[in-house]
Amino acid sequence: MIILAILVFGSAIATESRILDGTLETASDKGIEYIAQFVDDYGNFSAPFVTDNDLCFFFKLPLILSTAGKLRQANLVLNYIKMNFMQPDGDFRTSQSVKACFPYGTYYTYTNVWITMAAHSMGRYDVSVPALEFLQPFFRAFTTSGPPSDGHTLTEMFTASHLGNLALLTGDRKAAKKAAKVVMKIMSMQPNLNQTIYYKLDRGNLVTDASQVRGNFFVNRTAPNQPYLFVAYSADFLVKLYMQTEKKDYLDLAKQIISWLSTCHPSIYQSDSTKKVAVAAAWLAALTGDEDAKFVAEAISSYLVSTQNDDGSFPESTLPGNTPEISYALRLVDAVY
Ligand SMILES: *[C@@H]1O[C@H](CO)[C@@H](O)[C@H](O)[C@H]1NC(C)=O
Ligand SMILES: *[C@@H]1O[C@H](CO)[C@@H](O)[C@H](O)[C@H]1NC(C)=O
Ligand SMILES: *[C@@H]1O[C@H](CO)[C@@H](O)[C@H](O)[C@H]1NC(C)=O
Repeated sequence: MIILAILVFGSAIATESRILDGTLETASDKGIEYIAQFVDDYGNFSAPFVTDNDLCFFFKLPLILSTAGKLRQANLVLNYIKMNFMQPDGDFRTSQSVKACFPYGTYYTYTNVWITMAAHSMGRYDVSVPALEFLQPFFRAFTTSGPPSDGHTLTEMFTASHLGNLALLTGDRKAAKKAAKVVMKIMSMQPNLNQTIYYKLDRGNLVTDASQVRGNFFVNRTAPNQPYLFVAYSADFLVKLYMQTEKKDYLDLAKQIISWLSTCHPSIYQSDSTKKVAVAAAWLAALTGDEDAKFVAEAISSYLVSTQNDDGSFPESTLPGNTPEISYALRLVDAVY
């Protein structure tokens, strides 16, 4: 009876057994060892997929390496980023004319946020303080492709959520709440959740027409190979905001997003671009025991592990850096689930 009570209570805060029996951490370790070998004593990174001295090959590494216990390499890469890419105003750019390789020029603050999160959590305030200063205007408007002062008006669930996560990390509750407002507004405007989630907002209007924007702007529930992460990442942010505020609306919306994604085309479980979906689902599963979330986290993680090469790397796709981020995501899923 006592054992049963413990089990029932236990399942309300965490799942009963370790997800996929610890194989995710093993895969992550192999992937991290693979990338760490390419970091030299100057923090330069020369994995085979690095084709250029471009910010896009470096910006995720400090957070990924430090999370995986490679603090020395994380620190070295951060030095390299500071020396090569950090600007006097706290921005990070490949050069004056190039922000970073595609698509990171469009997702302007994406690179900044990864670097700032790492620097802040590593105590590298020489980097994080100016970096946060640069991001202040974005904490008010969450514009995706550039600062509001340059006339940018478009925002999206993903941008607001990424900045929202940084706001949570740095204790900026006001910015975190504002970011959540953007996400909630976008979700409240959906015309037909049975078919689509539109995830971009321009001057307060939901983008539902290709003539309004360049690039993807929605996830189609029944079509294959959709940009799932642009919706899923909001669940990651909302779960964390719920943990801080204990406001149930945030958790409910996170649940709604993950449940909706779990009804999408099964190609969501056969893609290397869904690592953030798995992590968001893992956080939700850990907090609620939600069955849809458990399924999503497990199905995606086991697919990702199945793609790992013998040397620890993962197949590189159109975007640089699958091996680092998949290794990171698998570690997070294993840790929080
Ligand atoms: C970093 O290494 C690459 C070769 O992988 C080299 O081309 C580049 O010049 C190095 N960067 C610096 C700043 O030394
Ligand atoms: C939602 O879509 C499914 C098919 O994907 C259809 O069977 C169902 O009737 C739709 N429901 C509504 C309310 O439109
Ligand atoms: C979503 O995909 C289905 C095919 O799976 C297609 O019939 C439908 O038109 C698409 N909806 C939108 C809004 O593109």
